[in-house]
Amino acid sequence: MLAESSRLSVMNFLNEAANQYPNAISFASGRPAESYFSLERWLTAISAFQEHAAMSAGHTLLQAGRRIAQYGPTAGVINALIARQLRIDERIECEAEQIIVTAGCQEALSLAVPALCRAPGEVMLARNPTYIGMTGAADFAGVEIVPVEVRTGETWEQALGRIAAELRRTGKTPRGFYLTPDFDNPTGTVLTEAERRSIVAGCAEHRIVVLEDNPYGMFRFEGDAPPRMAALDDVGCVIYLATYSKTLCPAVRVGAAVVPKRLFGSAAASERLRAELSERKSFVTVNTSQVTQALVGGVLLTEGCTLAGLVQAPRSHYRRNRDALLDALDGAFGGREDIAWNRPEGGFFLRLSLPFEFGRQETAECAREQGVIVMPMTFFSLDSTRRHEVRLAFSNAEPAEIEAGVQRLARYVEQTSPRAR
Ligand SMILES: Cc1ncc(COP(=O)(O)O)c(C=O)c1O
Repeated sequence: MLAESSRLSVMNFLNEAANQYPNAISFASGRPAESYFSLERWLTAISAFQEHAAMSAGHTLLQAGRRIAQYGPTAGVINALIARQLRIDERIECEAEQIIVTAGCQEALSLAVPALCRAPGEVMLARNPTYIGMTGAADFAGVEIVPVEVRTGETWEQALGRIAAELRRTGKTPRGFYLTPDFDNPTGTVLTEAERRSIVAGCAEHRIVVLEDNPYGMFRFEGDAPPRMAALDDVGCVIYLATYSKTLCPAVRVGAAVVPKRLFGSAAASERLRAELSERKSFVTVNTSQVTQALVGGVLLTEGCTLAGLVQAPRSHYRRNRDALLDALDGAFGGREDIAWNRPEGGFFLRLSLPFEFGRQETAECAREQGVIVMPMTFFSLDSTRRHEVRLAFSNAEPAEIEAGVQRLARYVEQTSPRAR
């Protein structure tokens, strides 16, 4: 496991590299493309929500505006609109009462991890490698995070059973399983429907709550989307985590946790978990900013509670970038058997495997000597594996930069590869 301090310093390290080499081309940051942020238009959507709130409560516009500017309910004020959007865009059958609006998905993670793992020995599971925000949330909560690896010939259900038994032998209990089934950060991979069903079955059997994180699901470029895990969950073991950071913009800091109606079949257990999350939130952020909730709510109202139209243009941009990256990789490394990469069907990230270890030192060297910054996969790894892999983010760049960046990376690989030595 990476040392806590080393994980928490990863972002500083990358920021420093970016500051030190301002002309370097960066594949490090998975930021959404800014050219699709329509702040002026979105700000005007606040009044659409204000009108809607006034109508629903029988208030004047002035009263509704004052309410928005006031402290608000901890669980949020746009829950019904979010539920409707999730029903339309994600095909998740949920109601407003199941939702807690959070300050981005990150807050939902920070609330859910300690709420699930309350007693000593209660641990979180995660796919390996995994999103750095999850490991950070677990570290801050003092909760151990255990990697789940599926062995050859094993199903997810069997792997979960094996790991739960191994943990129990050491006095530990897995309480939650964090994963991003669609266009995973950092690998860009997607779980099949069979894998999702197998995970739900394993988690149901061992009473493990799935945290299904889905910031990238609406950015599918091709192929059919498997159902969301929350839509397959007939036992009540999936908490779905939504965010508007990538579909609208990160600055809204609006996300949501959708708690199952009946947690492992119990409506009371579900209510207790939702109350626990709300109580924790009330001492962290009190409530998610009602101004930005009103902005998101207003956009949802004006878009008919679907973001399908809004994501069209950025999705084409990400697809174009993915294609530029695949072409550039093919041009630079095609035919080399010691270098491999995946072809993500959507999202922001791609995984590249190299013939030598790529860690902090190589990141700094590559930035200094060739002017390109990539993310070592060890930053996301929960153990000492993935030393030969890097994550390439293609979301926030232009195709010409992508092409030039890969050529620079290829020069670094050429000078560092074992066969060049
Ligand atoms: C997998 C994953 N989850 C959560 C987040 C954080 O999202 P938010 O901005 O909603 O806190 C990110 C952001 O990059 C992410 O990649």
